[in-house]
Amino acid sequence: MKTQVLVTGGTGYIGSHTAVELIEEGFDVVIIDNLSNSQESVLDGIEKITGVRPAFEKFDLCEREKVKAFFQRYPRIEAIIHFAALKAVGESVKKPLEYYRNNLVSLINLLECMKGNVLKNFIFSSSCTVYGQPDVLPVTEKAPVKKALSPYGNTKQIAEEIIQDYLASCADDLRCISLRYFNPIGAHPSALIGELPTGVPQNLVPFVTQTAIGIHPELKVFGNDYNTPDGTCIRDYIYVMDLAKAHVAALKRLLENKHKSPFEVFNLGTGKGLSVLEIITTFEKVTGVKLNYRFAPRREGDIEKIWADPSLANRELGWKAETSLEDTLLSAWKWEKYIRGKNN
Ligand code: NAD
Ligand code: WQD
Repeated sequence: MKTQVLVTGGTGYIGSHTAVELIEEGFDVVIIDNLSNSQESVLDGIEKITGVRPAFEKFDLCEREKVKAFFQRYPRIEAIIHFAALKAVGESVKKPLEYYRNNLVSLINLLECMKGNVLKNFIFSSSCTVYGQPDVLPVTEKAPVKKALSPYGNTKQIAEEIIQDYLASCADDLRCISLRYFNPIGAHPSALIGELPTGVPQNLVPFVTQTAIGIHPELKVFGNDYNTPDGTCIRDYIYVMDLAKAHVAALKRLLENKHKSPFEVFNLGTGKGLSVLEIITTFEKVTGVKLNYRFAPRREGDIEKIWADPSLANRELGWKAETSLEDTLLSAWKWEKYIRGKNN
């Protein structure tokens, strides 16, 4: 019988790509999502790619009784990959309580209700945002967690602490891997699933593709006076399918008891820092589309530069981000054209 895995937030951006990878690796995927930031039609995309439609349960993980009833209905689940969360940094500053409630209550409900099942394995979606502006680059997992710059970022820090405190308190053999993602971009090569930002995208790559297709007249590059080679900010952009593969590797590590402590943390990045201008010029080169962009003032709260030291994940998970930036940006462009009904 296939190993059953719960993917919360599985109709969302990273969750849907991970669901595809899990199904292709032979897992039985069950998705919980309240569709607050995704659409049920994502299941069609997953089915078209894999030939399998994952079981889908639509409810809010903040509703404890529903979470409890869910685990009674699915006693075979052996692992949880917990993606479900609100993730808009700016919105979290305006609605902090909504973010704390959604991201933390859902986590606590899952941890409480998974008790008593065969389930022992938990994978948590964390973020490089916990490092703030690191003092040393590339940043390793040993770098200190810095005061969060937003309520969203703080939910990731608090969530990691809640999980650690809980693991320390329970006699059960529970274990968790916290995966700190850098900047996930791109879409499945089929363009049947991808990132679907609601409203005006805040992230760079969706804004680039939407500008290229004509939705926005121009892209604003936030700041060109940073202390970086070309003056624009540097990030570690990682292809979402590479990220999805890392989840499968982390899951197998837990299922095969290869973890070295009950709580492990891994950076998921490429190890390469790229500037905003490098993203723009590579996008123009691979797509042949000229981007209308201009320099604008710095965006509040942006850090100057960060990129990962992913060597721990490379070594321990036997995983590496392998896809080129060119292929990654082409996948994002193919997806943008697909959702706008332009197939060439
Ligand atoms: P997403 O918004 O596309 O997916 C999250 C999904 O969770 C959505 O489908 C949403 O409807 C669902 N959800 C939210 N709250 C819920 C609740 N209470 N109950 C049930 N479903 C709920 O986001 P994503 O980009 O796929 O991010 C997935 C995870 O990775 C999040 O935890 C996010 O914080 C984390 N992360 C994302 C990035 C990024 O840049 N995308 C970077 C680092 C970490
Ligand atoms: C990347 C670079 C911008 C848009 C955010 C969250 C972080 C994490 C990943 C979840 C920056 C520049 C952007 C635009 C621009 N998410 N930019 N013009 O800020 O690294 O991280 O997503 O955990 O928590 O904060 O990603 O894609 O928003 O920006 O010049 O229109 O692109 O200034 O330098 P960021 P991003």
